[in-house]
Amino acid sequence: MKFFIDTAVVDEIREIHAWGVLAGVTTNPSLVVASGRDFKEVVQEIAQLVQGPTSAEVTALDAEGMINEGREVATWSEHVIVKLPLTPAGLQACKVLTSEGIKTNVTLCFNVPQALLAARAGATYISPFAGRVDDIGWDGIELIRQIKEAYVMGDIQTQVLAASVRHPQHVVQSALAGADVATIPYKVFKQMIKHPLTDAGLEGFMKDWATRAKVAESTK
Ligand code: E4P
Repeated sequence: MKFFIDTAVVDEIREIHAWGVLAGVTTNPSLVVASGRDFKEVVQEIAQLVQGPTSAEVTALDAEGMINEGREVATWSEHVIVKLPLTPAGLQACKVLTSEGIKTNVTLCFNVPQALLAARAGATYISPFAGRVDDIGWDGIELIRQIKEAYVMGDIQTQVLAASVRHPQHVVQSALAGADVATIPYKVFKQMIKHPLTDAGLEGFMKDWATRAKVAESTK
């Protein structure tokens, strides 16, 4: 499973990208607003930095508007993935943009029938929102597992992008459910890497190493 980061804050992307683990980035209108940056400017900066799939969401609600916006954002960088909502207009736009060779991420997916429709419309990625499904008392990870199973059985190439990831266990469970990608918030990346035994182990190694250096000095 590949890792994307779910943010439009360039400093966060830069920090996690430096770990060498990032394959791409997802943004949405709320994340762009939270970044305080101009949409085009920030998407171009992110795409240039990561050199990988960078989702940028359209804000029109009708198919024609989505298609026009999608064509425009796709010119911003070769790495841009046009993000479209899972509505009838979104599917229509997905079909048209896909036929023009533009890659798409169909977002706000909450059930398997929606995921099957998006795949038939040619979506490059489908984004089931695990955390928001959990929030209403359903099972977000089971949704991801079922979408992946339906895609495998139907020989569908659309990639399953686990979204609305809230904690490290969501990442583990998404991988075990067969997700192709998980888009992970900055905070969750920081939680993933942290383990008290890693810190304690490193501290012990460094203490012993310092002792050895002192011994070497005293025998000179
Ligand atoms: C996906 O691409 C969305 O940006 C995101 O994962 C939504 O997550 P949230 O439910 O935490 O807002």
